[in-house]
Amino acid sequence: MAVQNSVLTEQGVAVQCGYLQEFEADVLAGLSGRQKTLPCKYLYDAAGSKLFEEICELEDYYLTRTEANIFCECLPEMADLLGESVVLVEPGAGNCEKAEPLLACMDSPQAYYPLDISPEILLAAQQRIQARLPALEVAPVIGDFTAPEAWADLPVTAHKKVIFFPGSTIGNFTPEQAAALLRQFSGFLKAGDGLLLGADLVKDSVVLERAYHDSEHVTELFNKNLLSRINCELNGNFDTSAFAHRAFYHAHRQRVEMHLVSLKDQTVAVAGQDFEFREGETIHTENSHKYTLPGLKALLQETGFSPKHYWTDNKQHYAIYYAEVL
Ligand code: AVJ
Repeated sequence: MAVQNSVLTEQGVAVQCGYLQEFEADVLAGLSGRQKTLPCKYLYDAAGSKLFEEICELEDYYLTRTEANIFCECLPEMADLLGESVVLVEPGAGNCEKAEPLLACMDSPQAYYPLDISPEILLAAQQRIQARLPALEVAPVIGDFTAPEAWADLPVTAHKKVIFFPGSTIGNFTPEQAAALLRQFSGFLKAGDGLLLGADLVKDSVVLERAYHDSEHVTELFNKNLLSRINCELNGNFDTSAFAHRAFYHAHRQRVEMHLVSLKDQTVAVAGQDFEFREGETIHTENSHKYTLPGLKALLQETGFSPKHYWTDNKQHYAIYYAEVL
């Protein structure tokens, strides 16, 4: 039986219920398909988010470091393009650690609205940022940024808004889903509002595969944590040692795919339902799409944005784009 999620009543924090029911429905549906899949957003529970933070520090995982270097070097220029008295909105903000230096660099930012499914992390971040920038209004909103309801919970403002979407989170979406998401973003914005978007670029497949199959096996733990989570929350009986982590670059689809491979024929029960696995059969757990610079530009143009400026590292491994709504 699914249990109703606890309801948050903190002031300024929107309420979200039914997450566990949705998790169960998504898992049962995902395991019932011909190609078994699990939505990647469920990788990020408390344990998964901690493992992802560990991934970000790995030598093999160049993304975080490369993006941070670009920000470090180009923050003043970015802050300048964003302008003054801006409201910064961050979908999937997590610990808000990327927004903090940006906000500190911006010209009297009006407000910061981080949007995330994890209330604990958001509330801690709110206190930290509020202490550093007392004049800034920091109003976290709890919700899934892919759901329109979460956007409806954001305070209305007449100031210029900029959506801050770093971390190559866009890579988790297929090009069609990414376009729909960016259209949702531009629909929420008005003419002259902005988007600051970080995306990983197409590169040598060896470099890409090493980033998702790291030598310290943290990504393996991150991937398998999803099975442990299902065991815990949905009364599953996955034997995590009977699955292997697999990550490969699919050049035609321009994405790294992450899978869990069944090491034998086996039956797994989840929420009272049985699922058969053949040896070698996989569960597709995540996509990480890679973009070219022209591809990113085209994606922005077809979703209501006018690309203004981009920044990359010297190896062109990663890009940050600033675009405004037409
Ligand atoms: C959080 C989506 C940016 O795709 O690089 C890292 C997730 N998965 N290692 C990525 C991830 C495995 C990450 N994003």
